[in-house]
Amino acid sequence: MQIDILTLFPEVFPGYFNVSILQKAQAAGRLVIRLHNIRDYAAGKHRVTDEPPYGGGGGMVLKPEPIFAAVEAVIGRQKAKGRRQKAEDDHLVTLSPVHHVILLSPQGRPFTQQIAQELAGHERLLLICGRYEGVDERVRQHLVTDEISIGDYVLTGGELAAMVVVDAVARLLPGVLGAEGAAEADSHATGLLEGPHYTRPAEFRGWDTPEVLRSGHAANIQRWRRQAALRRTWQRRPDLLSTAVLTEEDKWFLRVLAEETVSREGE
Ligand code: ADE
Repeated sequence: MQIDILTLFPEVFPGYFNVSILQKAQAAGRLVIRLHNIRDYAAGKHRVTDEPPYGGGGGMVLKPEPIFAAVEAVIGRQKAKGRRQKAEDDHLVTLSPVHHVILLSPQGRPFTQQIAQELAGHERLLLICGRYEGVDERVRQHLVTDEISIGDYVLTGGELAAMVVVDAVARLLPGVLGAEGAAEADSHATGLLEGPHYTRPAEFRGWDTPEVLRSGHAANIQRWRRQAALRRTWQRRPDLLSTAVLTEEDKWFLRVLAEETVSREGE
């Protein structure tokens, strides 16, 4: 997968991208990240990228021209133009399987593991990091095909959000995580939170680890893990249980949990 990132601050990315799993994914050629400075596409001696908003009000707004020019340079002018024409014709922005142009902004659809999985299926992504008060609305209307927020809070720019998206997507790409299937059991991937993990030593400061995890009995370990995941989800994110895929045994275990609580409350 190739990910192009348009930003006014490309220097903030390498520290995070060039370590650990993301670094290995790039070294193995599974992930190509290209950083583009929006300022390089701004016209004039001063390469102005932002202006005060029409109609007044505080802050600055990112101008459309450098962003359009940067996207056109990165994905090819013809394609960007074609998309723009289509958007104008249909009053709709169409999703291209090849060039998925994502604006990071607090107004986007809330990012989830499911969206990470969806994005991991694309060959190329282009991420635009907003800054200041936001971007000129014509970027949203005629250039981007998707808008993503990483949470209901406002950051100073989209750079951290772009890092979050790249990280969550990259670890889902084939061959990026060491152990086969390592991403499948992640919290959220199964629709549930993961249960607790333990490692050596078996006893630490008098605190034990569950015997079953050291038993070597695969079926028992699997049942324990499933029940631990159900318990944790039930305790911390019960909202997830309504959409998780549950077996009859899962449902039975959740009823046991509910009964346990009722009887504890009655004590
Ligand atoms: N830019 C500023 N705040 C953001 C958020 N919450 N998510 C994505 N991009 C942002």
